[in-house]
Amino acid sequence: MIKNRSALSGETVATTQSAPDGRTALRPDAPARRSRPQRADVVVIGAGVAGLVAAVILARRGVDTLVLECASRARVESRPRAGLLGPGAVDVLERNGLADGLRAEGAPHHNCEFRHRRQAFIVEYARHAGGRHHVVYPQQKLVAGLVAAYLASGGVIEFDATDVTLDALTSDHPTVSFVAADGQRRTVESRFIAGCDGHHGVSRRSIPEGALRNTRQHGSPWAWLAVLAAVAPSTDKIIYGISPRGFAGHMLRDHRTSRFYLQVEAATDAADWPSERIWEELHTRLAVDADWKLAEGPLLEPPNVITMDSLFYEPMRFGRLLLAGDASRRVPPAAAKGAGLAIADGETLALAVAAALHNSDERPLDAYSEACQARAWLAQEASTKLLQMVNVELSDSFARRLQDVRLDRLRTSPVAAAEFAEQYLSPV
Ligand code: APR
Repeated sequence: MIKNRSALSGETVATTQSAPDGRTALRPDAPARRSRPQRADVVVIGAGVAGLVAAVILARRGVDTLVLECASRARVESRPRAGLLGPGAVDVLERNGLADGLRAEGAPHHNCEFRHRRQAFIVEYARHAGGRHHVVYPQQKLVAGLVAAYLASGGVIEFDATDVTLDALTSDHPTVSFVAADGQRRTVESRFIAGCDGHHGVSRRSIPEGALRNTRQHGSPWAWLAVLAAVAPSTDKIIYGISPRGFAGHMLRDHRTSRFYLQVEAATDAADWPSERIWEELHTRLAVDADWKLAEGPLLEPPNVITMDSLFYEPMRFGRLLLAGDASRRVPPAAAKGAGLAIADGETLALAVAAALHNSDERPLDAYSEACQARAWLAQEASTKLLQMVNVELSDSFARRLQDVRLDRLRTSPVAAAEFAEQYLSPV
């Protein structure tokens, strides 16, 4: 546990006991034992980008904030995730003083390359968008910077916090109980809970069935095999390769690491893709009639299959629990919108909660879900468009002819390029 603020160190004397349902109840009459912390204005579940952005903004506004993260600090600061941030996300980080690392080490990204019928063409999307551009910056570095910023602002994080349970969500004092790294169960009373624990976390699952609507895309036939390799990129710009064998993507991370994607059948077993097969397929699908060579390197993790299904849960609020980021949706990796949306949600959540706590103004809370979801649906549209542009309908020649036309238009029409740029860069 990292703890650097005495205000949260629990002057209240109490112990906890397990209730028959496995949850933990406060037992104020139990033998005295110091237990920390017992109270926080806001408990944030999950130290991903959504949770940490929310936590830093709240902590800097003087809100007692506790972050609970089930993984270790080393794990969250090294776990490879996304790597491309759009201008909306960078703006959030900039205006909250969280962009130092990004400015120092991030690489601006202005152009992307498409490969189609073995010909390469470049879309100078930043030029079409008044100079707005992406920044390539590995998400784990961003997370490490956010952890440092949060701790520096006096926030408390419990890493390795397991078996998190949420209770009394519709009361004024919802509680969160968890088993801390020392094996002790603790219960924290709060005023708000920020559920930022990703798509498989506990927060959304704590909301009673029927209270959330979910809107999903049915039966996307597409999936991508995601590959992370220890090799310098063979390009200085993202490559979208559209080949008769399906899509292949060459993404950027840093000067020693590259991310690749291969379009595969949704039911693909990643175990059927040993590294030799992956490299062979990448060579074939990214082939271009030019002097270009793809450098190979060892895989940094086993490849995994990412389905392109999209899923939205609404509203993003149940009583005093607010969901943010992947806890409230799943968007495909195309167009790299997931991290940006999570960052933007984190800021919107923090400002809404701060207004409620400091000014008793609940209007931003009431508007929270709609504000985040409107942004997310716009991002989903951009992602859907990009998927249609790059994924190949292998058994549908009609769809392939339309795809050819779309790509030709993107290559030749400034209007099509400007439209692409707008969606590629907005809203995050
Ligand atoms: N208890 C505590 N922590 C949990 C729990 C739990 N039950 N379940 C998950 N977590 C933690 C995870 O270990 C992780 O650190 O919550 C965090 C969630 O972080 P992310 O998955 O990064 O979610 P989010 O902040 O919403 O960002 C998601 O990042 O990589 C991009 O595009 C990707 O859309 C995705 C976005």
